[in-house]
Amino acid sequence: MDSPVSYEAHGEIGVIRVNNPPVNATSAAVRQGLVAAADQFAASAQKVAVLMADGRTFIAGADIKEFGKPPVKPHLPDVIHHIEALEKPVVCVIHGTALGGGFEVALGSHYRVAVKGARIGLPEVNLGLIPGAGGTQRLPRLIGMIPACEIFTSSRQVGAEECLSLGIVDAVIDKSPIEAGLDFARRVLDQGLPVRRVSEMSVAPYAEPDLAALKTKVARAQKGHVCHLRGIDVAVEGGELPFIEGMKIERQGFWDLMQTPQRAAMIHAFFAERKTASLPELKGIAPRALGHIGVIGGGTMGGGIAVSCLLSGLKVTLIERDAEAAQKASDGIAKTLTDSVKRGKLKPEARETLLADALVTSADYHSLAEADLVIEAVFETMEIKKDVFTKLDAVCKPGAVLASNTSYLDVDEIAAMTNRPEDVIGLHFFSPAHVMKLLEIVVAAKTAPDVVATGFALAKALKKVPVRAGVCDGFIGNRILKTYRTAGDHMVLEGASPFQIDKALVDFGFAMGPYAVADLAGIDIGYLTRQRLLPGRDPRERIGDWGDVLYHKGRLGRKTAHGHYIYDAQSPKGRPDPEVEEIIAAERAAKGITPRDFTDAEIVERYMAAMINEGAKVVGEGIALRPLDVDVTKLYGYGFPRFRGGPMHYADHIGLDSVLATINREAQTDDFFWQPAPLLQQLVAEGRDFSSLNEG
Ligand SMILES: NC(=O)c1ccc[n+]([C@@H]2O[C@H](COP(=O)([O-])OP(=O)(O)OC[C@H]3O[C@@H](n4cnc5c(N)ncnc54)[C@H](O)[C@@H]3O)[C@@H](O)[C@H]2O)c1
Repeated sequence: MDSPVSYEAHGEIGVIRVNNPPVNATSAAVRQGLVAAADQFAASAQKVAVLMADGRTFIAGADIKEFGKPPVKPHLPDVIHHIEALEKPVVCVIHGTALGGGFEVALGSHYRVAVKGARIGLPEVNLGLIPGAGGTQRLPRLIGMIPACEIFTSSRQVGAEECLSLGIVDAVIDKSPIEAGLDFARRVLDQGLPVRRVSEMSVAPYAEPDLAALKTKVARAQKGHVCHLRGIDVAVEGGELPFIEGMKIERQGFWDLMQTPQRAAMIHAFFAERKTASLPELKGIAPRALGHIGVIGGGTMGGGIAVSCLLSGLKVTLIERDAEAAQKASDGIAKTLTDSVKRGKLKPEARETLLADALVTSADYHSLAEADLVIEAVFETMEIKKDVFTKLDAVCKPGAVLASNTSYLDVDEIAAMTNRPEDVIGLHFFSPAHVMKLLEIVVAAKTAPDVVATGFALAKALKKVPVRAGVCDGFIGNRILKTYRTAGDHMVLEGASPFQIDKALVDFGFAMGPYAVADLAGIDIGYLTRQRLLPGRDPRERIGDWGDVLYHKGRLGRKTAHGHYIYDAQSPKGRPDPEVEEIIAAERAAKGITPRDFTDAEIVERYMAAMINEGAKVVGEGIALRPLDVDVTKLYGYGFPRFRGGPMHYADHIGLDSVLATINREAQTDDFFWQPAPLLQQLVAEGRDFSSLNEG
């Protein structure tokens, strides 16, 4: 097979060209090709080489097909060393993105040129790792310790102009990659610029307090992660040593991190996210059109969904109950877009164009006649939803996809209101809908495959992470949420405070605990759900009533500045309210419960066991396709710590037998709530884990 790296002569200039579509990843063949091309250049009459890549980007990372396999020689650090050791200058041209190993190749070159619009980045921390081919050693030597550590701990992409001001590149040239490379190579020839090896530079002195401040910032932003701070330590320690010794420190750090459960969890999350997005059942099925989106209801969700669609270039027609409500929705969308402008995500003129040309708000359902896909986001009441779908059936064109954003309700029942149930699907967004990445795609009994494909195409257009779910109360995410929240409520009834539970779970790595989440979502949501489910309640069900007390006191959470926590100027993020403890103590007394103490570890163990057990039921019943779909749902919609990979991956890590033991132990006091999932029992009996169900 031809090598993906070629060498050609342009007079006095040699051109080393990588051609490994789609992103020129540093596969084994590319690594071998780079060494061969470097040797060819060394032996040639050319005096300077341009190192560049074909296609839409420079080398944008490692070959993910090689992940987890035994490393194949030559290793990337050696390849880079080989290039850097050349006795004639090499000019690297960066276009598109130079990420991870790709950027490390650029750092091993003697000069760097960015094509306008190019970006660089070291995203290894997203996989629980640090750069392993010199990134932690060369970048501090090139631009200084603090900016270098900031770049690889944040994993952000740095644009060409910033690269120039930081000294990462020597020039930004607004030409094609080959022309940019030849331009700079001629400059090297004309000015007689020498070989300039970053490894031979020393790290510029920096202020210790600045480093300490960066460490504090990183520790706070990346709470629970081990790789970020290890990366800083490796850079600092190696920066004080000769480069070759520094590389050994980096290698050690890299291999240590390779062995960590966090790295395994992050790699699992990385692959899981890709698997949920490409559903095997959709192979070869073309989605329907989705240029024009209808949205029904312009409240919290409808407004957010409309913004998300507008920002992705889709046309939106939003229907509200009357002209006044339609105007309010329009104002809300305009305000959110203003915020996007303020945050630099949208140009002011683009905002004007979106509002003038891409958005229509109306109270007339007939405005939806041309919509390709309509998303209903009205109140969470079956009767209202049924009424809306009857209207949609009457006004929408044949083939239009009719979707509901319901959180819990039966999509089959909603679909039955139309004469086209095959066109009906659930599209469950998360709040705020223009920010949150998860989109649960709820496939009802009669949903047509190309309608499912359209749901996935919409997720792609909106840059969301799709997960296929089946119909049940709450689908994947909210059904599991209800279970672990109940497990939390049981512990509160038995003596733990909501604040201790929240803290224990935040310490575990969750973005928020369940009671802070309840305050954010609104205490009324939980109250209304409890009311809805009241008629079907089993008398053996243990439920906490304090949420109802809070509801009746008008303490609805953040929106009323009081919920479980108090939100005011003194504590905008909330502080525990002692009155809530009094309300709960009164409930315990009325129920004859003597409170006991809980350790944080006990709280996490029980909470996670409930989550995993319900996750196993959701998979066992086919609501989720695989355990990894549960993981992605919790990671992207419910603030589950990515460094733990998701609840099912975490279960494999701690051992399914230990999870089952917790469930069986709890079942001794409450065998109604703690019914082990048949799938969990089966896997334990067979000595298998959840990951065995993720394959294929
Ligand atoms: N809020 C959340 O966090 C969240 C998350 C995911 C899904 N959901 C679901 O999204 C849906 C909407 O929730 P929300 O929080 O945006 O509610 P909301 O009360 O903020 O908004 C509902 C909007 O629908 C409008 N509306 C009601 N009946 C209508 C009708 N017949 N025609 C047109 N407009 C009508 C109302 O005027 C209101 O503006 C619910 O099904 C909810 O369960 C909510």
